[in-house]
Amino acid sequence: MAFNEQNLTARLIGKRIGNSIHFLKEVDSTNDIAFQRALGGADEGTVVIAESQTRGKGRLKRQWQSPPGCNLYTSIILRPEIAPIFAPQITLTTGVAVADLLSLYCPGNVTLKWPNDVQIRGKKVCGILTEMSVSAAYKVDFIIVGIGINVNIERSDFDEAFRHIATSLKEEVGSEISRLDLIVKLFDNLEHLYTTLRMEGFGSIKDMWFKYSDMVGKQIRVVFNDSVQAGEVHGIDDFGALIISDENEVIRKVIAGDATIVKD
Ligand code: BTN
Repeated sequence: MAFNEQNLTARLIGKRIGNSIHFLKEVDSTNDIAFQRALGGADEGTVVIAESQTRGKGRLKRQWQSPPGCNLYTSIILRPEIAPIFAPQITLTTGVAVADLLSLYCPGNVTLKWPNDVQIRGKKVCGILTEMSVSAAYKVDFIIVGIGINVNIERSDFDEAFRHIATSLKEEVGSEISRLDLIVKLFDNLEHLYTTLRMEGFGSIKDMWFKYSDMVGKQIRVVFNDSVQAGEVHGIDDFGALIISDENEVIRKVIAGDATIVKD
């Protein structure tokens, strides 16, 4: 079935995530569109989807390659009643939702890399960018969960700079994947895990996240702007920070950056 608004709407009837759909041909960034809609009062569960992005945004002001006709670019509006400090839980929950989804296609080969990369056989297949607006009372007003999944893009079409570190679902599975099926399952997984997060707290989601992460017990290096932190990974805390111990066994918490495993 074709990946279009009509078919998607039909598949999302009765769902909370996807209750309102904005399916667009080309946008700057689905996160920016969703942010504007949320400022205008759009409900929780509203989703923005685009066939392509001209200025797809990645973490740390990077660009997200977003050609038309092959991948998924979507942003979801959530309105959790939480303090901003807990917002990273939403990013990690989304990571688990994507990892569960991709595991249906590549069982046993999907990993999560802190803070938000989803990988297949060690190559990045999905990125998650969450942005939020905070009210005057210092509560989250809304969170935009932006998800980009490399679905059917061919290796040769990746920008040269990413070719060796990125992959697509099609490259890993060996056949074309239905974007319609994929996005419906993605929203379903997220709806389920978001409900778990709100009803039961972060504990079980954190356990699921660890099952997909291959970082615990390993030596890593985290680079953020000009600073480098290194140490052994112990876990993540309830605010989504990475807990590491340095060479003097001092425990540190890392809140942002790019993590690389330096020694298994
Ligand atoms: C990263 O890994 O750096 C995060 C990439 C997030 C990309 C997605 S694509 C849909 C949404 N819109 C954007 O502009 N970015 C996110």
